[in-house]
Amino acid sequence: MRDVARGWHADGASIGLVPTMGALHAGHMSLVERARRENDRVVVSVFVNPIQFGAGEDLGAYPRSPERDLSMLRAAGVDAIYKPSVADMYPAGASTRVIVHGVTERLEGAARPGHFEGVATVVTKLFAATSADRAYFGQKDAQQVAVVMRLAADLDIGVEIRVCPIVREADGLALSSRNAYLSPSERRAAVCLSRALGLAVEAYGRGERDPGRLRAILVEAIGAEPLAKLDYAEVVDPATFSTPGSLAVLAVRIGPTRLIDNHDLKLPYPG
Ligand code: PAF
Repeated sequence: MRDVARGWHADGASIGLVPTMGALHAGHMSLVERARRENDRVVVSVFVNPIQFGAGEDLGAYPRSPERDLSMLRAAGVDAIYKPSVADMYPAGASTRVIVHGVTERLEGAARPGHFEGVATVVTKLFAATSADRAYFGQKDAQQVAVVMRLAADLDIGVEIRVCPIVREADGLALSSRNAYLSPSERRAAVCLSRALGLAVEAYGRGERDPGRLRAILVEAIGAEPLAKLDYAEVVDPATFSTPGSLAVLAVRIGPTRLIDNHDLKLPYPG
């Protein structure tokens, strides 16, 4: 991968990277399309990164669709698919980890100990392997976006981080590879996340600024769905993930599946 990237740079071509864990959907493809528009060459990495999954999380069950991913990426005209093995990424003896303080400490970081250390480490390695000029991340993982921006700035990596909007189903559910786990009744229940965000946007639009009351609106909307169990609901600053702020973030269990979603309350709600 590094040799290919060096060759492209030697020819004066710019490189866009779309890091993924496969099981691609229209959300990923929106990142690929934007990367295509903004770069001479596009690399999509496909790597289910074991070190960002905690004990008891869904590493073994994580959806995998290698053939479908390949045909979607071919059809989208990407220039390279970087698909390292676990041994390529973490050979015996590898013992370096990238730790981002502050922004990783609450919410997803607290719920999933070690998760952001795993993400920060793999993303740093992907930036190094691909020499990317730009890298594309989905707003759906809002805290991951904040972590990656922090690390790219702090480590002077020289990669520009571009963030693409959440892609939603017609009823508002944010696209996620983990939606594949939902049974039909859970799938119907999962719309409570986007509904809760919509209600918070409406309240913000009416002038509500009290973080406690905005949070209460999110909590009440999730509580109204019998199949949903709230993990967290907060309104935070999008860069630091501390309060106060205007980014409403949610993590909710629908049966055994943990879903996240978010929306900046200053922006109109899509749909
Ligand atoms: O968002 C993801 O799919 C993963 O966290 C990423 C950025 C590909 C790192 O493994």
